[in-house]
Amino acid sequence: MTMHKAAIGVFDSGIGGLTVASEIVRRLPNEDLIYLGDTARLPYGTKSAATVVRYADRAVELLLRYPVKLVVIACNTASAHALEPLRAASEMPILGVIGPGARAAAAATRGGPIAITGTEATIRSQAYQKALRALLPDATLHATPWPLLVPLAEEGWVDHAVSRLTVRTYLEPFVELGVDTLVLGCTHYPVFKPLIRQVLEEDFGGYPLALVDSAEAVTDELAALLDERDLHAPTRDGRRSFFCTDAPERFARVGTTFFEGEVAPVFPVDL
Ligand code: DGL
Repeated sequence: MTMHKAAIGVFDSGIGGLTVASEIVRRLPNEDLIYLGDTARLPYGTKSAATVVRYADRAVELLLRYPVKLVVIACNTASAHALEPLRAASEMPILGVIGPGARAAAAATRGGPIAITGTEATIRSQAYQKALRALLPDATLHATPWPLLVPLAEEGWVDHAVSRLTVRTYLEPFVELGVDTLVLGCTHYPVFKPLIRQVLEEDFGGYPLALVDSAEAVTDELAALLDERDLHAPTRDGRRSFFCTDAPERFARVGTTFFEGEVAPVFPVDL
């Protein structure tokens, strides 16, 4: 098999990375995609850096057993802690979501303060803060984790009253700080974009806030890498396969909220 026909490997702790996979499939429909959600170990966002590195290492090792030509770490927590060690240990190109997310935020801001949210582990790592400071040394940054959105997303409660109240509670301090851009630094969060916009409209008088996530930006980077290395798949319908480490039926069911298209086939796998 030539490298052109090999798949793009995508990894997240659960279903959140499907928001990135969805954008990849939309923009690069000829590519085969192998997705791994480590649902048995989710959430990563509350774990220590050493544990996240160990989990991400196992996950990438599993993806590399399949014919893949590059790997996208579609998890901010794993990108924040494990991207550098993973890159150092592999010949395979590995893309993370923090750099692309920070570049998207730098392009979106109108010069006001920038809010960053994500899991506790991502915020604690300072990865977004460092990436943004490198791009915009004078920017004012405010970072706060929004941990409750991960279980709410995994529950599929994207427009539930509980999620609405949670989003409102999380947004309020950022609105008071006058931020103009919000980095959704967790791949579980983009499914709440419509709800966030609704809360800004109804509860905060149409407060203008640019919502940024990494899906488009990392897909731009991925497409550029495929160009640069001449690795695009031949013209055909790309195939998708999904692996998860626990509860495959649930993954397929809830995954449809995150992924445009059928989340099938889903294979259970042990890491
Ligand atoms: N989707 C993962 C991220 O982007 C986090 C979810 C988790 O805590 O496992 O950070």
